[in-house]
Amino acid sequence: MADLTSLAYYIETFGCQMNENDSERIAGVLDAAGARRAASVEESGLVVVNTCAVRGKSEEKLYSYLGRLRTLKRKRGLIIAVAGCVAQLHRDGLIDGRPFVDIVVGPDNYQRLPEALAPSLAQGRVFARVLTSRSRNWDEEARRPVLRENRVSAYVTIMEGCDNFCAYCVVPFTRGREKFRPLRAVLEEVEALAQAGYREIQFLGQNVNIYRDPATGTRFPDLLERAAAVPGPEWIRFITSHPRTFDPETVRAMARSPKVCRQLHLPLQAGSTAVLGRMKRGYTRDEYFEKIHLLRAAMPDIHLSTDIIVGFPGETEEEFRETLSALSEIRFSNIFSFRYSPRPRTAAAKLPDDVPLDVKRRRLIEVQALQKTIQVELHGTFVGRTIRVLGTGRSRKDEAVYSGRSEGYQVVNFRAPDDAVGRFVRVRITGYGPYSLRGDALAFEAPRLVAPPRPAALG
Ligand code: 5AD
Ligand code: SF4
Repeated sequence: MADLTSLAYYIETFGCQMNENDSERIAGVLDAAGARRAASVEESGLVVVNTCAVRGKSEEKLYSYLGRLRTLKRKRGLIIAVAGCVAQLHRDGLIDGRPFVDIVVGPDNYQRLPEALAPSLAQGRVFARVLTSRSRNWDEEARRPVLRENRVSAYVTIMEGCDNFCAYCVVPFTRGREKFRPLRAVLEEVEALAQAGYREIQFLGQNVNIYRDPATGTRFPDLLERAAAVPGPEWIRFITSHPRTFDPETVRAMARSPKVCRQLHLPLQAGSTAVLGRMKRGYTRDEYFEKIHLLRAAMPDIHLSTDIIVGFPGETEEEFRETLSALSEIRFSNIFSFRYSPRPRTAAAKLPDDVPLDVKRRRLIEVQALQKTIQVELHGTFVGRTIRVLGTGRSRKDEAVYSGRSEGYQVVNFRAPDDAVGRFVRVRITGYGPYSLRGDALAFEAPRLVAPPRPAALG
């Protein structure tokens, strides 16, 4: 193994939860090779930029960040590595136009980073390296632990890649085909996290609900059940599910286990069946509604969230109104909404991007305004109720204020007289805004297992 003991590294992460988890993996790999984490870019000899390619805007973020790194590199030695989806998408192209980038490394190749860095460090000069081959080695990964900064909630990747090829989406070209992580490795990681006192596990994958253990064929509902049987973590979530393949067995598994949070992210993308067809999503508006009905019938208190794209090629005003009506009818607890952005290699990139920018902008504003009203109404119903919150952080401005999440994944800011980070707290909701709830801690739940004993209730 390469020796990187003289190296301090800094990782900048753009994009989704999987990128966050990947950055923790990169940190684990660099750490195992002897490098140490630097607190800032200024104190580092290596900067890894973990990138997102899902929209044009995400990619632009990288280029402006790289511009800043280039200036820094001119002043002093600095190794610049571009990781993640943009690295995999553009490969050599990234270095061609930007000779100051030293290493380009895709998501399947993080284990090879130390070997790529070693010659540069030994000889005092940097060799451009492009590591974007396609074969993820889960066994090798298992030997280098993921280095997490969050001590309360842990991401656990169970699959990567996507075979759906939705017309707008670049992910099948950056994350490649579906690859499932062995169940044994997943459960070992969950057990280790339980031992370390983690309270919440979030399973990750582009398409978690089609998970299948490569060795035994065990499917996602059983994975949930097996994970729920591990004592310790009390909340289990997963992201992302696909409406086409999201099945009644998973709904049943969720409903059966009190540990699986009553919360689900199910990307709708558009409310019009015609647009969904052009997007190649593989379901109709009615089929999506049926899944929602199934979920709510089994778990009436479930909180749902979704992704919406406005201005997909050819989207008429009437079709767009169907997205608004879907939001009004379903009443999601949260949404992520975007203007359509053409991406290289995707099927939709060949279609004319014919919805004018000002129309896309106006549609996005309408979607977000409607959703804001829905969330204000929903949050209003929480006032006076006492809910269970997992404390995840402390306010920088006020020591007695903590932030956390409800089971439904709402952000909750609350006052507590004792450290609430990593603990389940009963919080009485006293106020709200469109994007969060406010309240006061009434009692701490007795921590179970691992964590040192603390008083069970507040005076
Ligand atoms: N343009 C706009 N939004 C996109 N998304 C994915 N690709 C695009 C694109 N080309 C959105 C989808 C997806 C989320 C992660 O990003 O809504 O669910
Ligand atoms: Fe992209 Fe569609 Fe795959 Fe999601 S399911 S990652 S939107 S191609």
